[in-house]
Amino acid sequence: MKVVVTGAAGKVGRWTVRTLLEAGHDVIATDRKLREESESKKFIQAELRDYGQVCQLLAGCDAVVHLGNIPTDVRNTSQAIFENNMLVNFNILEACKDLKIPKVVWASSETVLGYPFVAEDLSYLPVDEEHPSIVKSSYAMAKRLTEILSEMFHKLANTQIVALRFANMYEPDEYEKIPIMHWSEEGQRDVQKKNAWAYCDVRDAARACLLAIEKDNLGFDIFHITAPDTIFPETSQELVDKFFPDVSLKRPVEGHETLMAIDKARKVLGYEPRYTWRNVLNSDGKTKALPEDQLALLNTDI
Ligand SMILES: NC(=O)c1ccc[n+]([C@@H]2O[C@H](COP(=O)([O-])OP(=O)(O)OC[C@H]3O[C@@H](n4cnc5c(N)ncnc54)[C@H](O)[C@@H]3O)[C@@H](O)[C@H]2O)c1
Repeated sequence: MKVVVTGAAGKVGRWTVRTLLEAGHDVIATDRKLREESESKKFIQAELRDYGQVCQLLAGCDAVVHLGNIPTDVRNTSQAIFENNMLVNFNILEACKDLKIPKVVWASSETVLGYPFVAEDLSYLPVDEEHPSIVKSSYAMAKRLTEILSEMFHKLANTQIVALRFANMYEPDEYEKIPIMHWSEEGQRDVQKKNAWAYCDVRDAARACLLAIEKDNLGFDIFHITAPDTIFPETSQELVDKFFPDVSLKRPVEGHETLMAIDKARKVLGYEPRYTWRNVLNSDGKTKALPEDQLALLNTDI
């Protein structure tokens, strides 16, 4: 397939371009930032707020993986985040309608579930795609509104539109900072409950994008995409008991499994996350001395 990947100079975009190329797709990578070393030979610098540029980029493609948003951070005002993300998301969906592009996959976020999570907002754990959405930031508002917009565009133009709710992305070389950033102080441990300790390896996120563009007949749908486990050494039941003792469980939780349920992505997309910090670190935070090619999930007990 001829696939346009937006946000291709970014954290998730770089890995997604690589994954799609490895799977044999013809990839047009695009970003408003220049990235000389993009793995795709077809890199086009473009501003997605400009509808003319979006149409020129997307003309003739079979699918779009749309990752070009401002991620939530402290360097942008709420207005700048909302204005950029809403407009570019609308432009991508509108262009797919006008140009009759059959498939779009785009990055939503765990923040639509109520980030930061507090017990009063949680109807149950693990949170699944049926859980009520509670938005608390302009970033989350733009993501949730784009989910609603996606359903509208699917009904209007019959475009297959898949929203992947990613959580807290990690690149392979970032795992070693987890113990210092997240486990060290009690205060920090409390902060991490803000997304129920969910995280995701960029390589798994990229693979989820691939699975979603290759799948047919999805209509409009939303999937949680996370690592198989939580970012903490404790079991998931211990985390629930300690931090959310009054929140009921929708189903029993096993071992260290993610509390942002990925059951639906597993069942419908065939998504099976391959990477976890447990491949790289011991539960005391010390690095495992294993070569990269042995760091597969296969031998890790989640
Ligand atoms: N990083 C995370 O933890 C995380 C978690 C959940 C969801 N997401 C979502 O995943 C997607 C990718 O995130 P990321 O971490 O790779 O972010 P990133 O900032 O590394 O990459 C995003 C890219 O989008 C580009 N971009 C933004 N606005 C643009 C515009 N108007 N025109 C052209 N390009 C534009 C930026 O230049 C940037 O290179 C985003 O939609 C983000 O909201 C990220």
